[in-house]
Amino acid sequence: MKSKLESIKGKAVREVKACTDLKELDNFRIKYLGKKGELTAILRSMGELSPGERPVVGKLVNELKDYIEDVLAKQKEMIEKTAREERLKKESLDVTVPGRKPLRGKRHPLTKTLDEIKEIFLGLGFSVVEGPEIEYAYYNFTALNIPEEHPARDLQDTFYISSAVENDDIVLRTQTSPMQIRTMERQKPPIRVIVPGKVYRSDDVDATHSPVFHQIEGLVVDKGITLGDLKGTFDLFVKQLYGEDVVTKFRPHHFPFTEPSAEIDVMCYMCKGEGCRVCKGSGWIELSGAGMVHPRVLERCGIDSREYTGWAFGMGLDRITTRKYGIEDLRLLFENDIRFLRQF
Ligand code: DAH
Repeated sequence: MKSKLESIKGKAVREVKACTDLKELDNFRIKYLGKKGELTAILRSMGELSPGERPVVGKLVNELKDYIEDVLAKQKEMIEKTAREERLKKESLDVTVPGRKPLRGKRHPLTKTLDEIKEIFLGLGFSVVEGPEIEYAYYNFTALNIPEEHPARDLQDTFYISSAVENDDIVLRTQTSPMQIRTMERQKPPIRVIVPGKVYRSDDVDATHSPVFHQIEGLVVDKGITLGDLKGTFDLFVKQLYGEDVVTKFRPHHFPFTEPSAEIDVMCYMCKGEGCRVCKGSGWIELSGAGMVHPRVLERCGIDSREYTGWAFGMGLDRITTRKYGIEDLRLLFENDIRFLRQF
């Protein structure tokens, strides 16, 4: 019996050492220590032994059982340690590997220009408001003193969305000027706002035209406001945008919603009036429409035109931006090609 136990011991030691994972180890445990295991079988057969042998063999078997349990536990620990080390090796982080540079977002050139312009007007005490791009014809035309037969209302220029809703047509706004009306209806003077936003006109796309573009509207209404205020404010704005030595020039013009009306030219910031590519040789750049708010427009909004006067302007953001950055094709502003945008 003793030698049988010795041989079991030798076999068990070899087998336990051969176990490389927990599954094999469990099979080993069942084989030796399980209910049908070799040691259990020996313990069961003790009845066949003589009373004198029983305690001796019992002791030996129990010792062997303890021994096997012991080597089993040690092997288990080793397997777990190896697994842990291997996992660590796989998970390890090489802090010397050069990093991958994340792509940083950039502000769109239109946003950059607009932010700059907003900053200037905020500094002058204006607030920035926005309005709907889908607009009643009343706000886009009628209230702005643009009569029914005016060519701007023609299907050629205006995207009509639906006609005669609540007795009015619905259009994509062709200008930011309707926000003059919405602002004056909502707010009593003094008013000082700029309104940036998208506007729409039925134009074919090419290097200088787009059916969607951006305008910035300005509106000031208060007691005693004059054309001089418009000139002064605009001059200040232009000097901050383009530089101290840049001057403006007002050319008479006509807009239905202002009287008098003007187009404001700015001296070319590139050539300082000499004539160059940016200003197409003229020395001047057309910047904005403007004028004194027509009394009829004020009255429509419930503002007494004998007590209050105001001025307004409307300029195109896209042209300012393309000139500023030397962008030769307007389409680039709308395509969102990352290779283009990355340059700003
Ligand atoms: N809304 C005009 C346009 O789109 C521009 C304009 C001209 C706006 C004169 C004004 C203004 O506020 O006073 O052509």
